Amino acid sequence: MGTTISANAALENLLAKAQEAAAKSYSPYSGFKVGAALQLTNGAIVTGTNVENVSYGLTICAERAALVQAVSRYGPEIRINAVAVANLNNAASPPCGACRQVLAEFTEPSAPVVFPLAEGVRAMPFAEIMPFATELKLQ
Ligand code: THU
Repeated sequence: MGTTISANAALENLLAKAQEAAAKSYSPYSGFKVGAALQLTNGAIVTGTNVENVSYGLTICAERAALVQAVSRYGPEIRINAVAVANLNNAASPPCGACRQVLAEFTEPSAPVVFPLAEGVRAMPFAEIMPFATELKLQ
């Protein structure tokens, strides 16, 4: 399940920041321009965009670019309490599996994740798009 986000000004703002970040996309191979914005519990918003590579496989998604930027800027204690993803292609772009796994390291299970689907923008708690994320514990 999920909710539409029109009622939530903070998420609308985060989505606008993601959209802005998408303008910086380096995507000569797919032409798909993605932006991500992370709301941190320290109050900061950190953005990222996708950076493609001629190898294709070494492409870095917007979500992971934003995450790496957030840790680099604020350190290892960051926590993410909202995520927004946008693209300039008028297409669906839910976070890919790799990004969900990487976000899981720093994202609150209750954090809303806002992203475009074919039927419109959706907001869902992180735990719903990445179930069992907190179950993997190393001894
Ligand atoms: N991409 C992202 O950056 N984030 C997403 O949520 C979906 C996919 C990028 C990877 C690649 O550069 C392009 O979009 C096409 O998959």
